[in-house]
Amino acid sequence: GHYVTCVDKDPAKIDMLNNGEIPIYEPGLSKLVRKNKSLKRLDFTTNLKEAIKETEAIFIAVGTPTAADGVSADLSAVYAVAREIAEHLDHYAVIVTKSTVPIGTNLEIQRIISEINPDLEFDIASNPEFLREGNAIGDFLEPDRVVVGITSDHARFIMGQLYSPLRENGTPILMTTPQSAELIKYASNAFLATKISFINQMADLCEVVDGDIDDIAVGIGLDKRIGSQFLRAGPGYGGSCFPKDTRALTKTGDDVNMPITIIEEVINVNVRRKQSMAERIKIALGGDVKDKKIGILGVAFKPNTDDMRDSPALDILPKLVEWGADVHAYDPVAMKEAKHLMKDGIKWCDFRDQVIKDADCIALVTEWEEFLDLDMIAIKELMKHPIWIDLRNAYETDDFKNLGFNYHSIGRMPILNYKNADQLQNELKKKA
Ligand code: UGA
Repeated sequence: GHYVTCVDKDPAKIDMLNNGEIPIYEPGLSKLVRKNKSLKRLDFTTNLKEAIKETEAIFIAVGTPTAADGVSADLSAVYAVAREIAEHLDHYAVIVTKSTVPIGTNLEIQRIISEINPDLEFDIASNPEFLREGNAIGDFLEPDRVVVGITSDHARFIMGQLYSPLRENGTPILMTTPQSAELIKYASNAFLATKISFINQMADLCEVVDGDIDDIAVGIGLDKRIGSQFLRAGPGYGGSCFPKDTRALTKTGDDVNMPITIIEEVINVNVRRKQSMAERIKIALGGDVKDKKIGILGVAFKPNTDDMRDSPALDILPKLVEWGADVHAYDPVAMKEAKHLMKDGIKWCDFRDQVIKDADCIALVTEWEEFLDLDMIAIKELMKHPIWIDLRNAYETDDFKNLGFNYHSIGRMPILNYKNADQLQNELKKKA
């Protein structure tokens, strides 16, 4: 029921949005934007001065990518917007930071605005977001919690009003200090990343001791204190958040002489993991990929997004090309983005079957829904050698048992039913 005007300095983006087109791939968003635009509750403009007239709350929601030093968050866009707001704002408002920002940033925003516009009455609030790409609408409308860091009762009141529809639905609203709100965001992402690096190391252990990582995840996840989510073993976490936020958290720790060594190791495990995935494919092919046709299904960092940032595919595909493989890749939505990032040597296919036809092996890198229910018998006919490497444990191993494939997954015993089975088994043992 609120009235929202969104501002961006990129006129092309604003034109697209005003026409109901969304510059990113996010399921359901286009429909929601069109609906609210037609109800005149939502508008898009490049004119910040006009947009902030008569507002009660102004959200800063710009990117905070990793800075040139490779670890810190680059806050230049956040501070630039804060300065612009300060120059134009002429009435009380709460200036809310949605961007993921290190501890102390909200207080710095407050200082910058007071310096530029000393007579302005305003409050700041830190209001981190916990949306997942691909699931953003659901996560926004039914969040586990809303976190708000404030320094005044007035800001508490306005932010409480703003989120009252969620509170009425039973969503816990945690009011705290800006510093704590900022840290809650980083600590949440760092904890989830820790779960993933943990389960990935357990998966490596399973491969040596004949365990089954899916059973391990269920077995530990049933303990309510641990919880079952974010225990899917895979090729390592990617995306625009976990890699960047874990790095920024360690930087914060280092800056105040309080190293966050757990997270340093979580990062190291993940970096090594992404780098080791190409090697798995090589081993599954008997130790040499030269001139072999390798079909890659999915390159986005996860399904339901076209985001390629820090995707494991960025480590895997170039490595295979470097080793002389004939790499064919297909992704339902991320190929445009992927082509910019991986220019050389990859054959991008418009259809899934182009990847599969005459392939020496298939590697599933991103578990898009359209890859989950495939006719494996028909696929086997199309392939040159039925070798399947599933980096997401997207299938049951049993499903491959009687199909004559060699099926390799993560943290589970491989199924070796194809003719090179003995040789490959030896390779795998040696590697382990
Ligand atoms: C993440 C958080 O989940 C959101 O709560 C947060 O708001 C967001 O970052 C952010 O800071 O903006 P997102 O990056 O969209 O969301 O994606 P996730 O669904 O968390 O997945 C991140 C990576 O972890 C993906 O590469 C995914 O494949 C991997 N992952 C996830 C696993 O390998 N195993 C799992 O069990 C879960």
